[in-house]
Amino acid sequence: MPTRGRVATRIRFAVKAAPIPEIIRVLDDEGAEFDVASVGEIELCLRQGVAAEKLSYGNPIKKAADIARAYALGVRGYAFDTEDDLLRIAEHAPGVGVECRFCATVAQSRTPFGMKFGCAPQETAPLLVRARDLGLTVLGPYFHVGSQQLDPAAWRTGIEEAGRVCAALAEQDIAVASVNVGGGLPIPYAGADAEAPAPAVIAAVIERAAVEFLPAAAGLVVEPGRALVGSAGTLHAEVVAVRTAPDGRRWVYLDVGRYNGLAETENEYIAYRFVTERDGDPVGDAVVAGPTCDGDDVLYQRTRVPLPTTLRAGDRIQILDTGAYTASYSSVSFNGFPPLTVDVSGPERK
Ligand SMILES: Cc1ncc(COP(=O)(O)O)c(C=O)c1O
Repeated sequence: MPTRGRVATRIRFAVKAAPIPEIIRVLDDEGAEFDVASVGEIELCLRQGVAAEKLSYGNPIKKAADIARAYALGVRGYAFDTEDDLLRIAEHAPGVGVECRFCATVAQSRTPFGMKFGCAPQETAPLLVRARDLGLTVLGPYFHVGSQQLDPAAWRTGIEEAGRVCAALAEQDIAVASVNVGGGLPIPYAGADAEAPAPAVIAAVIERAAVEFLPAAAGLVVEPGRALVGSAGTLHAEVVAVRTAPDGRRWVYLDVGRYNGLAETENEYIAYRFVTERDGDPVGDAVVAGPTCDGDDVLYQRTRVPLPTTLRAGDRIQILDTGAYTASYSSVSFNGFPPLTVDVSGPERK
C-alpha cells in the first residue's frame, strides 16, 4: 500500500448530539458536514441554511418513505448496513453515494452500540459491490467504535478492517472515495474517564493507521458528536431533597434526572462532574437521583459521588460537560416535569 503524508479529513457533525440551531449554524460556517439520523434532523439543518449536499443520512434504520423524502430534499449521501436497506436506497434515492457500516471488532466503549448496527466486516465489500451494481455511487466503508471510546487502538483496528474492504473493492475496480471512521471521540468526565485520551492522541492513531492500511487516494470522514459539543454545556440544577435511606446511605435528589436530560446515566455509563455552592465543605458519598416517582430515575448508586455533607434542599448544583446527548433526550413531560431548556446566550450563569 503506498504511503502518504497528511490525510485529507472531513468533519461531519453528528447532529443528534446537540440538535441546536445555533450550533449547526456555527459548525456550518466552520465548514463542517452533518450526519443526520432522520427527516426531522434534515429539515432542522436545511432551516439553518445548510446546503443539502453537506448532509449525510447516517442512520441505517430508515423507512422507504424517509429515504424518498430525504432524496426529495436533496440529500445525496446515505449509510446502510443490510441489503434490505440498500435496495430501499437504490429504489427511492437512485444514484446517490453510499457508505456501508460494518461492526468493527473493537473494545467496548462507555456507551456501546452492541450489535445494533453494522454488517460483519467481511460482508462490507460484497455489499458495496452490490451497491455499484444497483447504480449507486460507492463512497466507502464506515465504522463507529462506540460512543465515549477510551481506547485509541479501536480506531486502528477499524481502519485496518476498512483497509481490507478497500483492497477487496479494488479487485472489483471500485476506488474508495473516503473511509468514515465514525464518532466515539471521548471527553473527560469524572472517575476513570477523567483520563480520556485527548483528540490529538486519537487523531495521531487514525492518521498512522490510515497511512498504513488505506489506499492513498481515499480521504477520511470523522463523525464526532460528543467531542464537539459535550464540554460546551453546563446543566443548572437544584437540590430538591436530601435524606438518609433505611440502609443508611445518603440520597441527594435533584430536579433533573434520567427522564429530563440525563439519559446517559443509564447503567451509570457516563459519570458527570458536579459543582455545588458548598464545594470546600466536608464531603461524603451520596446516591444521586432524579425527581420523578420512577424507581429507575437514579443517576448514580454504584459510582462513588462525593458531595458536600452540608448540601441542602434549594442548593444550586451544576452538572458539567452536559452539552451532548442531554436536551434532546428529555422526555416531553414524564411525571409532569418539563423538558430541559437550552440557553445559548453566553457566559454561564453563576
Ligand atoms: C451514526 C452516528 N455517527 C456519529 C455519532 C456520534 O458519536 P459520538 O457522539 O460518540 O462522537 C453517532 C452517535 O450515536 C452516530 O449514531
